[in-house]
Amino acid sequence: KNTITVGLLGLGTVGSGVIEILNDHKESIQHKTGCDVTITKVLVNDLSKPRHLPNETTQLTDRYQDITEDPEIDVVVEVMGGIDHTLSIVLEAMEQGKHIVTANKDLIAQHGAQLFETSQRNSCDLYYEASVAGGTPIIRPILDGLSSDRISKMMGIVNGTTNFILDKMTREGADFESVLKEAQDLGFAEADPTADVDGLDAARKMAILSILGFSMPFNLEDVSVKGIRGTSLSDIKYAKQLGYSIKLIGIADHNENGASVSVEPTLLPVEHPLSSVHDEYNAVYVYGDAVGETMFYGPGAGKLPTATAVVSDLIAVIKNLRLGVSGTAYVQPQFTKQLKSRKD
Ligand code: NDP
Ligand code: HSE
Repeated sequence: KNTITVGLLGLGTVGSGVIEILNDHKESIQHKTGCDVTITKVLVNDLSKPRHLPNETTQLTDRYQDITEDPEIDVVVEVMGGIDHTLSIVLEAMEQGKHIVTANKDLIAQHGAQLFETSQRNSCDLYYEASVAGGTPIIRPILDGLSSDRISKMMGIVNGTTNFILDKMTREGADFESVLKEAQDLGFAEADPTADVDGLDAARKMAILSILGFSMPFNLEDVSVKGIRGTSLSDIKYAKQLGYSIKLIGIADHNENGASVSVEPTLLPVEHPLSSVHDEYNAVYVYGDAVGETMFYGPGAGKLPTATAVVSDLIAVIKNLRLGVSGTAYVQPQFTKQLKSRKD
């Protein structure tokens, strides 16, 4: 097959970035995959909004069945967000044999078992690199590059919005509400920014990292979470005077008793490398028994960085399709088995 046909669910910050990258990097993507990639249908909520579509023939729809039931569509890229409604659309798409790329951490953290089981049963790929740390590769390195090691700990900044807010409060003395508004305008925050501010978005990401890094089932409910709502400008100023910064830090520890995962505002000495993570950037330390300390650093949110991860996943799906190995990638068989047995 020389043309891969994509249905895009969502045309907001990330969806418009996906279109931009597929357009701007068309030739190199064609070179890497041996295929043309075409987005034939795009699902949105509001058909009346002005849109920038990939080409004149791209169909805009508010009926998800136009995509899930279209036999011509090979891959569904889900960048609409949400949980229950989105879950049913993605499951239905996989039942129809479509491969999935998603940036949706809520979905993976809360419904990973069902999604993985469905993808395996239907021999579909399910890729989700953008779900943690936006444009910074972390899932693939954990699943592939560090797969020979035993990961004992992961620690770092996994939410761009709260890092942006705390950083602007620290460096510019800005007030919380106005920086949150700026993060929303820049497209970093979730549709409901409560998930960012109250630490739930970071908790979801740490849960995903724990499941994959520690190869074990882990419930989102077991993450101890505290967000940044109670962190005032005076806390930040006082910490600064004492030589500390305040960062929202996720920590996942693994030992013989299982995993313990927390997300909370944390005092860090200003000379600590995580204190120098500015704006919407993320940084995660991953400690392996054999490899020692590794660090993944880069943009944790935003249109083009996140779309880079999404389109890279799409390229991986296309390569699998061409090699005839779909359904084998990005899934830890053991992860699915363990999550299933927990559910049973
Ligand atoms: P936006 O809110 O900017 O865009 C969402 C898009 O999905 C909009 O086009 C919206 O339609 C459409 N949509 C939402 N709900 C529905 C629905 N029920 N039916 C049809 N269409 C719907 O979100 P983002 O692009 O920021 O985020 C998308 C996903 O990517 C989320 O899961 C988010 O967590 C994840 N993500 C986002 C990052 C970022 O930096 N923004 C980084 C990493 C992951 P309409 O345009 O009509 O409103
Ligand atoms: N709202 C999220 C953040 C987007 O700020 O980190 C990236 O997952």
